[in-house]
Amino acid sequence: QRLPELLRQMPKAELHIHIEGSLEPELIFALAQRNGVALPYADVESLRRAYAFTNLQSFLDIYYAGASVLLHEQDFYDMAWAYFERAAADNVVHAELFFDPQTHTERGVTMATVVHGLHRACVDAGQKLGVNASLILCFLRHLSEESAFETLEQALPFRDKFISVGLDSSELGHPPEKFARVFARCKELGLHLVAHAGEEGPPAYIWSALDVLKVERIDHGVQAVHDAALMQRLAQDRIALTVCPLSNQKLCVFPDLADHNLGKLLEAGLAATVNSDDPAYFGGYINDNFTQVFAATGLTARHAYQLAFNSFEASFAGNADKRAWE
Ligand code: ADE
Ligand code: ZN
Repeated sequence: QRLPELLRQMPKAELHIHIEGSLEPELIFALAQRNGVALPYADVESLRRAYAFTNLQSFLDIYYAGASVLLHEQDFYDMAWAYFERAAADNVVHAELFFDPQTHTERGVTMATVVHGLHRACVDAGQKLGVNASLILCFLRHLSEESAFETLEQALPFRDKFISVGLDSSELGHPPEKFARVFARCKELGLHLVAHAGEEGPPAYIWSALDVLKVERIDHGVQAVHDAALMQRLAQDRIALTVCPLSNQKLCVFPDLADHNLGKLLEAGLAATVNSDDPAYFGGYINDNFTQVFAATGLTARHAYQLAFNSFEASFAGNADKRAWE
């Protein structure tokens, strides 16, 4: 019992959480009612029964449908606030939240509505819960380069309210190169850069996220184990991988949690971290990810300390924050 307690109690940073993926079925139904949005599910139970995924795309279809209940600034605030309460309970002291503006702007919700609601929750998380929080704007890779540029343009009036851009959604068939010019522009703007790569996609996508997009972290990255030269590169440059064990299990990246390669990544000297991805859909928040992957794969307290350390080292928290944590 001591190891699960250590995992739960240790301070940690969460670096891979899609805030739209924290929408619990109960909140989806409450917001649908509040906003007069019709859902293709009769009740919370039948929605939850639909959470049986076979791959990334089968999840994304339901995830985008769930986000359709978000219309007003307060909706975005309420969603993020519910996550922060869970995060604080899991001893998360620093969180970097992905959000997918195109999911909302394509439905006529303005960028201002999305960013203001999420940002206000981030401010309150710091003041009321002691969770230091910031935002990462993600481009949807199944949409065009043009749509990504348009999204960046819409976001620039709020440049001070996000620290980084990311790249998510359907990976296969949408290699990082598609967004080379968008990421180059974001780099010029002084934004941090991250991208999902090697979740379902090949090691080649991780190479191009690094060498073409110039990202500082790789989200997921678990397919790197199939390329020894890539493993060396990631270890040498201490490129963090934001790994999400329960997500990988639920999306059938690994048939069983016991097959997860987190231990292999750590033993190879990679800066892996543990995160929740879309906790409302994958059966647990960050502490569930820690306790379940440790129990299934036999990781030890030494790995726990390393993972907590990696999460702070890989975070985009300022140096003042990092000194305060020492
Ligand atoms: N959007 C939300 N969760 C995602 C994931 N695990 N991979 C890619 N895009 C996502
Ligand atoms: Zn993700």
